[in-house]
Amino acid sequence: MNINNSLDWLAEEFRRRFETEPEGIWSAPGRVNLIGEHTDYNGGFVLPFAIDRRTRVAVRARTDRKVQVASTFNGSSPATADIDDVGPGTVSGWSAYPLGVVWSMREAGVNFGGFDMLIDSSVPVGAGLSSSAAIECAVAVAINDLAGAGLSRTKLALIGQRAENEVVGAPTGIMDQSASLLGQDGSAVFIDCRSYGSELVPLDLAGSDLVLQIIDTKVSHSHATGGYAARRASCERGASDLRVDSLRDVTASDLDRAAEQLDEETFRRVRHVVTENERVQQTVEVLRTQGPAAIGELLDQSHVSMRDDFEISCPELDLAVETARHNGAIGARMTGGGFGGSAIALTPVDQVDAVRTAVLSGFEQVGWTTPDIFEVQPADGAHRAR
Ligand code: GLA
Repeated sequence: MNINNSLDWLAEEFRRRFETEPEGIWSAPGRVNLIGEHTDYNGGFVLPFAIDRRTRVAVRARTDRKVQVASTFNGSSPATADIDDVGPGTVSGWSAYPLGVVWSMREAGVNFGGFDMLIDSSVPVGAGLSSSAAIECAVAVAINDLAGAGLSRTKLALIGQRAENEVVGAPTGIMDQSASLLGQDGSAVFIDCRSYGSELVPLDLAGSDLVLQIIDTKVSHSHATGGYAARRASCERGASDLRVDSLRDVTASDLDRAAEQLDEETFRRVRHVVTENERVQQTVEVLRTQGPAAIGELLDQSHVSMRDDFEISCPELDLAVETARHNGAIGARMTGGGFGGSAIALTPVDQVDAVRTAVLSGFEQVGWTTPDIFEVQPADGAHRAR
């Protein structure tokens, strides 16, 4: 379906479900992180890009303080709520994402009278490509426009993050929403998660005959539980033991001292964050001076650091990364929060089939669920589509 057909289809589906015209359609992308993992909540650096898989929301404003949110992926009856009642602890399931944003927009002082909304998405769920941030950001830009609030992209990212932290209950950082809101076709977004400053970094994969392959291992992860929060807590402990505000303030030259002060495990967690911050900055430099064909080794080092120091990989991600590397990828790493989800492989165009075939057969040999392997391109961030 081309873009106009899919917008027509969504508008038609909205009419069918709500028996009225949508006022507009807004769209926000998922993201993939090129490099910079678990650095965002440490005030560090990340380099994600918005991808060509998007969430679209068709919306019509209401004046009776009701929200009705339906989706094309979760049953036919909409989630309904009074906007004055929505908040932490009142919603669960997928509707916590859109309704969480309703709450955090209001907390940010945005006034609106409610709406009917239909959500459709081509961002795969559970693949580590931020299907959740895509929903949050599409809803946030829609409310921002309908209410004439004029909030900045950074403010909208913080609103999306607050929804995720306080209503969904996942203690995530600012990367995903920032990528979804700030992304641009042909570029990655270099974000300083302490100042919230950002710069676009050209990422012309096709011009270097490269493809970014996603290998979705189908191992499900949830950042609202377990490992993610434990890693965040380790980082906070490390920062406090080292008497700094955040691990952003620790550099490679501090690591010898840190090894003496911290317990062994906390030290490895800290070393990941410190070296990952350096790798992000190096990747930006290499992209600007040499182009994407020269960043492979940095991606590989990032994976090793996540596997051995931060311990957020899993056998499926390791197999995907190793198999991709041995069959033509010039760099590969797990991406996103970890404990499942996807790996990325930076692969020359003429090796794409070899990587795909090898990964599929590697998974088949050990009897694991067949992974989904596909390509993504840097795409535009959230905007009004119609
Ligand atoms: C998840 C979170 C992000 C970030 C990554 C790890 O995607 O939502 O904020 O912490 O994990 O880099």
